[in-house]
Amino acid sequence: MARKYVLIPAAGSGSRMGGELPKQYLPLLGKPLIHHTLSVFCAHPSIERVFVVIGPDDCHWQSDWPGEVLRCGGATRAASVLNGLLHMAASEDDWVLVHDAARPCMTRELLDRLLDALEDDPVGGLLAVPVADTLKREGGAGRIDRTEPRAGLWRAQTPQMFRYGLLRTALKAMGTELPTDEAQAVEFLGHAPRLVPGDDRNLKVTYPADLRMAELILKEIWKEIT
Ligand code: CTP
Ligand code: MG
Repeated sequence: MARKYVLIPAAGSGSRMGGELPKQYLPLLGKPLIHHTLSVFCAHPSIERVFVVIGPDDCHWQSDWPGEVLRCGGATRAASVLNGLLHMAASEDDWVLVHDAARPCMTRELLDRLLDALEDDPVGGLLAVPVADTLKREGGAGRIDRTEPRAGLWRAQTPQMFRYGLLRTALKAMGTELPTDEAQAVEFLGHAPRLVPGDDRNLKVTYPADLRMAELILKEIWKEIT
């Protein structure tokens, strides 16, 4: 049976967050943000191993933290993911779930939903949320050119779950400068990844204000599960 692995790209510098410490290491409710991210995957019985890709010169990761660290982060997220795939041992048909270190509010419920939806899928897929807001195309100088139809548009989240062999081939084929997520590389090979309804609470911490939001969401999640 295909095994399930998790690969967490955590080699970014968090430039939009600002500050010295990369956002994955910032304190969130008493522990480094990435510990929240790791906990849901490390606790799931179907997940075989959890790999974390950090930069070769990362001096923040501590050896007793959960997960198996790979010091092979690259210049882009896609490069970090591809390097991680090349450094972990897996069979072609094994599943790899790629999840941003910067999404600490992932839940067991969402993970089960993704695993259930994709267990027998020929391609794989990702968590995503339908676009709710009206979309405006700027024409320049901060003024609207036109309103874009939002029907059929989704916002991609992570985890993104693909077969090890397909994902490695896709990222190699597209080149690591281009894809902003794994699905885009798989689409590039002509496949149609499945959209699995995610949750707005699975936010990616990007700007300083997102930290406070993540704190509130985590508190709410903890209340729900206790
Ligand atoms: N990431 C990575 N290697 C890179 C760039 C990003 O592993 N070269 C990781 C980040 O650590 C993060 C995830 O990919 O967990 C999503 O990327 P993003 O939110 O863009 O994080 P950063 O690139 O660190 O932030 P910014 O774009 O603001 O600099
Ligand atoms: Mg980035």
